[in-house]
Amino acid sequence: MSDRKPTLSSLSRRSFLGIAWGGSLAVLLGQAVIALLNYLRPVASGGFGGQVYAGKVEEFAINSVNRILAGRFFIVRSPEGFLALWQKCTHLGCAVPWVEEEGQFHCPCHGSLFDRNGEVLGGPAPRPLDTFPVTVRSGEVWVDTSKPTQRSKFDPSQITGA
Ligand code: FES
Repeated sequence: MSDRKPTLSSLSRRSFLGIAWGGSLAVLLGQAVIALLNYLRPVASGGFGGQVYAGKVEEFAINSVNRILAGRFFIVRSPEGFLALWQKCTHLGCAVPWVEEEGQFHCPCHGSLFDRNGEVLGGPAPRPLDTFPVTVRSGEVWVDTSKPTQRSKFDPSQITGA
């Protein structure tokens, strides 16, 4: 057994190294946890999965259908207001384009057809296109893409007034 007693300077060095090592480990672990939480958290704004800004009210002509790419939906503007339709086909999930010349949504995968309110006109789709809640505030149109709504048919109550 050594009778050498630890000196103040050796204890301080040991303590310093222990604190530095532990502190570095804690910072690294904290950063990893924050990165993981950010990765797992749904998008809060600005893109699909959160609130998406579609545009100013006056940018949407009456009776127009506009695709909002970032939100993966269409804004249908009628005299009564706005309807946001998810672009996802209710058959097997293909992205459904609006075909202006046909005046309908026409799924390229298996040929389902939907009218401007998203109701099924033909093909294998089992129900209308899903909708997202629309909010108009301060002249801006916002769509909550975190809450798709399935429906069995179109009803004017699904339209949000301008
Ligand atoms: S995925 Fe659209 S018709 Fe099949």
